[in-house]
Amino acid sequence: MTLTTNGLASDVASNVAGKRVLVTGGASGIGAASALLLASRGAKVVIGDLSEEQGKAVAKQGQDAGHTLVFKKVDVTSGDEVRVLFAFAMAELGGLDVVVNNAGIDHKPAPMHELSDEDFDRNIAVNLKGVWHCMRAAVGCMASNGGGHVINVASIAGLRSAPLLSAYSAAKHGVMGLTKSAAHEYARVNIRFNAVCPSFIDTPMVRNTMANMDERAQQATIKASPLRRLGTVDEISGAIAWLASDESSFMNGHAFTLDGGMLA
Ligand SMILES: NC(=O)c1ccc[n+]([C@@H]2O[C@H](COP(=O)([O-])OP(=O)(O)OC[C@H]3O[C@@H](n4cnc5c(N)ncnc54)[C@H](O)[C@@H]3O)[C@@H](O)[C@H]2O)c1
Repeated sequence: MTLTTNGLASDVASNVAGKRVLVTGGASGIGAASALLLASRGAKVVIGDLSEEQGKAVAKQGQDAGHTLVFKKVDVTSGDEVRVLFAFAMAELGGLDVVVNNAGIDHKPAPMHELSDEDFDRNIAVNLKGVWHCMRAAVGCMASNGGGHVINVASIAGLRSAPLLSAYSAAKHGVMGLTKSAAHEYARVNIRFNAVCPSFIDTPMVRNTMANMDERAQQATIKASPLRRLGTVDEISGAIAWLASDESSFMNGHAFTLDGGMLA
């Protein structure tokens, strides 16, 4: 092992080489960056997403660079579609070592009593039940290949309040409950569960939300972290790639915050 000047092993990246990975919501933002990074480090990756056009474009980008990156359309709110996605990934990759449950949506910022039934139900369906569908499918697949690691993309909104985003926050708190409970339930079959909890990251989702804010609210969002900026998708995908590597092998049931110090 070669050590770099900061003392980190320089061969960490190769720890994901050959890993069989499924990333949901891999057509955009954090999911696309994670899928592309993992594939560039030698992982074999399937991405599942609702958006066929964008998903195919991300897969092509990886394939053009010589990497294994395959797209399959899925709506994670459907348990049946999730089963089909996992069967596809198992057949395509020959097993599953890592699942990144990243597909998610936000909702129009509003005080809780003004949220529509539709916004509330849709948020829970995608951000919570969709994650549960994928965790359930992952357990079945990973138990058959001797273990694995499920990485749920939650949020700091799953750890603290998110004013005007209460349905989103409720769903993400739910994801933390699923993550922590599953970490206890499946350790005996060598399946680990962890969550990453980003603050505001510069992705299409956040740009879309910020477009509806006035200048003052936009600045407050940008400066919410002590680093006084949004995070980048590369800063999240780098952490996800580390979690996907064997370097994270003793981490289980953990909320890995990536927030520039916001919760400190
Ligand atoms: N961007 C942030 O600031 C931030 C912060 C904390 C957590 N997160 C979480 O990170 C994840 C990724 O967010 P992002 O910012 O990259 O957003 P994004 O909008 O760029 O990407 C989300 C992807 O999920 C897909 N998706 C949405 N609904 C789906 C469904 N029903 N089935 C399958 N795919 C679906 C979308 O098509 C899209 O490709 C989400 O779970 C989000 O809640 C984001």
